[in-house]
Amino acid sequence: MEKTLVILKPCTVQRGLIGEIISRFERKGLILAGMKMMWLTDEMLNEHYAHLREKPFFQRLKDSMRISPAIVCCWEGVDAIQVVRTMAGSTNGRAALPGTIRGDYSISFQENIVHASDAPETAAIEVKRFFNENEIYTYPPALLSSFYATDEF
Ligand code: TYD
Repeated sequence: MEKTLVILKPCTVQRGLIGEIISRFERKGLILAGMKMMWLTDEMLNEHYAHLREKPFFQRLKDSMRISPAIVCCWEGVDAIQVVRTMAGSTNGRAALPGTIRGDYSISFQENIVHASDAPETAAIEVKRFFNENEIYTYPPALLSSFYATDEF
């Protein structure tokens, strides 16, 4: 099983959509391995968005991630990284397809509801960036055989 990092961005907290978005991941069958509310720091965001530091919107993006606390979560499942990226949809909420989280809840490039890790290497780094080891829980999901065939997990 893979672990992936999801951030419910401050826009999601502000709009009162935390429960709706968390519900989507739960209903999909992903297992919640960690979750907390935190005010992201400039240091964290410099690391997290390092690939965008030359972009003209870099400071604006960082500011938007600090307008209020965010909810950081770690979800677990078979192919969880790709599953969550597909659920999130295209980065620009205006282009994201209906049925995806961004397609259903966002009309903005920047205020696009969630961050989701994009690859196994980044997922591992991102989970470590936002969680201490003792904040990630491994527990036996009672209904695993209702979510997967026995040779899938
Ligand atoms: P990026 O890592 O490219 O996308 P994703 O979040 O889908 O992995 O970009 C990070 C965030 O930066 C993105 O969620 C929204 C914001 N952003 C803009 O505001 N304008 C842009 O043109 C791009 C590419 C991103």
